[in-house]
Amino acid sequence: MLLEKILQSQGFGSRKYCQQLIKSGAISINHEICVDTKAKFDLKNFTFKVHGEEFEYREKVYIALNKPQGYECSHQAQYHFSVFDLFDPTLLNRGIQCVGRLDQDTTGLLLLTDDGQFLQALTHPRKHVAKVYELITANPITPEQIRLLEQGVELRNDGIFKASNIKQTSSNQLSLAIHQGVYHQVKRMLAAVGNKVEKLHRSKIGELELPMLAEGEWTYLDQTQIELAKSRMVP
Ligand code: URA
Repeated sequence: MLLEKILQSQGFGSRKYCQQLIKSGAISINHEICVDTKAKFDLKNFTFKVHGEEFEYREKVYIALNKPQGYECSHQAQYHFSVFDLFDPTLLNRGIQCVGRLDQDTTGLLLLTDDGQFLQALTHPRKHVAKVYELITANPITPEQIRLLEQGVELRNDGIFKASNIKQTSSNQLSLAIHQGVYHQVKRMLAAVGNKVEKLHRSKIGELELPMLAEGEWTYLDQTQIELAKSRMVP
């Protein structure tokens, strides 16, 4: 692929801007500055430096973020920060999107990608990819509440929703899996059984666990992790 096209595909700006970047001597490949905008490179394991910073060519990007509290999943966040504030302009130029949404006060595993097919695969209502949440409740969780969550609760205007793999870890602490993603689903399910979510954290999507990341940190996913995120959990 032409160097100017490579840079454009990686989010460095318009074709014209990338040509200027190359001509200005900002790009080096294999320790040599390349000023030829029409130079061609094989993309397999291709790395390049822009102003001395190294980048790896990625056809698509798959990102896991440990979402902090106080961040909205929208580009035009109104009352809080936007999760997109946590990413470099190159990634924003590539048009990364959140794979589903977490509330501003929910923490944990949030995937972002510029691969429309991957986004569809994980968010399509019929795919049923499981999402696991850890939650702290305002009131002690009763066996009856767990039974109701397993059996299914009605959420107004949306239908009946069940939780699976429910594990109570202390009087006010629970982990559960859901297979859909309607608005405020976990909070509304807990409210429907007479409790209240105080803290919510997503720990797993499909079979992919939140990687070791501090809040606000992110990492690229490798192929194995991408497949794990897509895999369904046995209910
Ligand atoms: N359910 C909720 O209520 N909130 C989230 O952020 C995710 C699932």
